[in-house]
Amino acid sequence: SNGELGDWIRAAKATLGDRVVVLGHFYQREEVLQHADFIGDSFQLAVATQSRPDAEAIVFCGVHFMAETADLLSRPEQAVILPNLAAGCSMADMADIDSVTECWEQLEELYGTGPDADGRVPVIPVTYMNSSAALKGFCGEHGGIVCTSSNAETVLEWAFERGQRVLFFPDQHLGRNTAKAMGVPLEQMPMWNPRKALGGNTETELEDSRVILWHGFCSVHRRFTVDQIETARVDHPGVRVIVHPECPMAVVDAADEYGSTDYIAKAIAAAPAASTFAIGTEINLVQRLAAQYPQHTIFCLDPVVCPCSTMYRIHSGYLAWVLEALVGGDGVPAEVLNRITVADDVAGHARVALERMLAAKP
Ligand code: 13P
Ligand code: SF4
Repeated sequence: SNGELGDWIRAAKATLGDRVVVLGHFYQREEVLQHADFIGDSFQLAVATQSRPDAEAIVFCGVHFMAETADLLSRPEQAVILPNLAAGCSMADMADIDSVTECWEQLEELYGTGPDADGRVPVIPVTYMNSSAALKGFCGEHGGIVCTSSNAETVLEWAFERGQRVLFFPDQHLGRNTAKAMGVPLEQMPMWNPRKALGGNTETELEDSRVILWHGFCSVHRRFTVDQIETARVDHPGVRVIVHPECPMAVVDAADEYGSTDYIAKAIAAAPAASTFAIGTEINLVQRLAAQYPQHTIFCLDPVVCPCSTMYRIHSGYLAWVLEALVGGDGVPAEVLNRITVADDVAGHARVALERMLAAKP
């Protein structure tokens, strides 16, 4: 049963002590998060990775790109473990290194490679954290950077200081919502589409571009609609609507606020008693916040339960399984299951892109 599994995990963690640290993303199930030593959004978890350099193993309860980032930012001796290797991210899979490289080559043909009078290069590549290590490596190698939902504006400012325009992947919505909030007109944010058969990009569109968007999206966040917000406002006068920036632009525009998962959690924590919130993000986080703050009314904008199906693939059985393998004798892990390691040929460049992000100050 879940209760017995929970007891078992607590006992294994007690045996392992400081040898292991468990990190958990806000979207994880409660049965998993109750065992996490640190819970956060993807930026906070990247930073938390470096907070326990003494731990032999980092068990990452989240998705694959987060575990890869943890491997890049931790010491080489530390093993990063993803309890279920099938926990990926469909948005991250929407941009692969071959198509991005092909796009980049076409952009180089179009814009050249030399800097303008202010020393700015034609294009800076920016990848959302939700991407493979290979794409982070691409950005590191080509003067670019990584962003998360909590620092996207800071990172775009960093990029505009160094480049005339940005190629933003994989999430079109985070790119569009962030650039729009910074005053970039929509006409200057074409979606990359070189194929004339599919409409293609016009020359003026590309000439005037400031942000070239990739076509990726999150299948959880694209479910939210303006209609749901309107219904929430009718049913709950005074409701505060907060959505994640992976939602489509019309939804972000219709909401009162938007921000990362940590932004949402903090906004609720700081609210006056008996507030009402309609939240546009993954259901596990919304339900946990509702349980944590019974003094408020907190509900998900989407009446049909919308979990992130890949985050959901981590459950306590997998956590117990990987911990069991670590409980060896004599302080040495008996066996490391599901270790995530980024290949050396991309790791160096990927670290450069991550470190640029960590150093970019708002
Ligand atoms: P956060 O950085 O806001 O936690 O977002 C991660 C994510 O995958 C949202 O879908
Ligand atoms: Fe990926 Fe969306 Fe799941 Fe986040 S919620 S991990 S972006 S599929």
